[in-house]
Amino acid sequence: MKTLSKRTADFTDSVIRRMTRISLKYGAVNLSQGFPDFDPPAEITKRLAKIAPSGPHQYALTWGAQNFREALAKKQKHFSGMDVDPDENIVVTAGSTEAMMAAMMSVCDPGDRVVIFSPFYENYGADTILSGAEPVYVPLIPPEYGFDPDVLEAAVRQEGVKALVLCNPSNPSGKVLSMEELQIIADLAIKYDIYVITDEVYEHIVYSPNRHIYLATLEGMAERTVMCSSLSKTYSITGWRLGYVIASKEITERVKKVHDFLTVGAAAPLMEAAVEGLCFPDEYYDELLECYTRKRDLFCNGLDDIGLYYTKPQGAYYVMVDIGRYGYESDLEFCEKLAEKVGVGAVPGSSFFKEDENRYIRFHFAKKEDTLQEALGRLADIDRMKK
Ligand SMILES: Cc1ncc(COP(=O)(O)O)c(C=O)c1O
Repeated sequence: MKTLSKRTADFTDSVIRRMTRISLKYGAVNLSQGFPDFDPPAEITKRLAKIAPSGPHQYALTWGAQNFREALAKKQKHFSGMDVDPDENIVVTAGSTEAMMAAMMSVCDPGDRVVIFSPFYENYGADTILSGAEPVYVPLIPPEYGFDPDVLEAAVRQEGVKALVLCNPSNPSGKVLSMEELQIIADLAIKYDIYVITDEVYEHIVYSPNRHIYLATLEGMAERTVMCSSLSKTYSITGWRLGYVIASKEITERVKKVHDFLTVGAAAPLMEAAVEGLCFPDEYYDELLECYTRKRDLFCNGLDDIGLYYTKPQGAYYVMVDIGRYGYESDLEFCEKLAEKVGVGAVPGSSFFKEDENRYIRFHFAKKEDTLQEALGRLADIDRMKK
């Protein structure tokens, strides 16, 4: 038989999902794969129940149901000040995952290069390769996870660079970029005429005093930013697979076509129910942030009590913990043993870094407080892991 595609031959199964299977095997508290173990807002699920008999059950408009796009445009204006035309600037996708893939395929040709900050959310490398482009990595340096502007410029000015991927707030590092850092990126994007594909799925989980700044709102960036985001994290509905691209009219026209061929459209009844969430008042977002701030503080204070070193997240719901002192060459081995011996599931940091880095593991804290207490209770025993 002929060989299968070369493009996908080096893909490995997701380490994050592998750690979930390992956690299940050992009965570990699973702080690896990042999804909440609590319910979505009742208004959204009640609406879903109400529309179940009547629908909509057939294909929605390819680029998303009209009322969903209108509500999203209003929400985006409210939080960012951006003027978003529901017909010209929005495509509703199957999660930010599809949004990123559609964005990448709309921007890149085979042979182009895409700059990606490392550590990075594992899909970006695969998205780049699937669209035929080649990733160029720029390190975010622990423990602050900042970048060196000269290193970034050297990467951006390489021959063939078409786009940069920006995850802000960042998974896995929890970094939220400051205005100064965003301005450096914007200046380089304009200077070297590249697009920036942003992944802003944690836009509403940004801990005080940090604040989320939409890159597209910086001068000159609206026309070259392809903003991807999602309802997954903001409304605790990761399984609903609702995300979107917001971009200029020209970019959106292309994304609509790619999206049409990839998925035809997002799930019609789920869009109809999720409109409820898009119309929530400010108090919803305040409460969401309060809830995650409590979880972050509970988990980080627990790590302090145990004596673990970590980077305090400025946003999102992950913590990178330094395991250097435990003497393991492989962070994967560390995580497997941690699940087996201590009973807590984590993700080896090496699955996020392009560099040869084995010193960090990632926990997530989108869990009920009882679950986090249970995990911390078990982690109190972590010194058993010393070699
Ligand atoms: C940075 C980042 N982007 C995208 C996703 C996936 O988002 P969605 O559920 O909207 O596809 C995740 C999920 O963990 C994520 O952490």
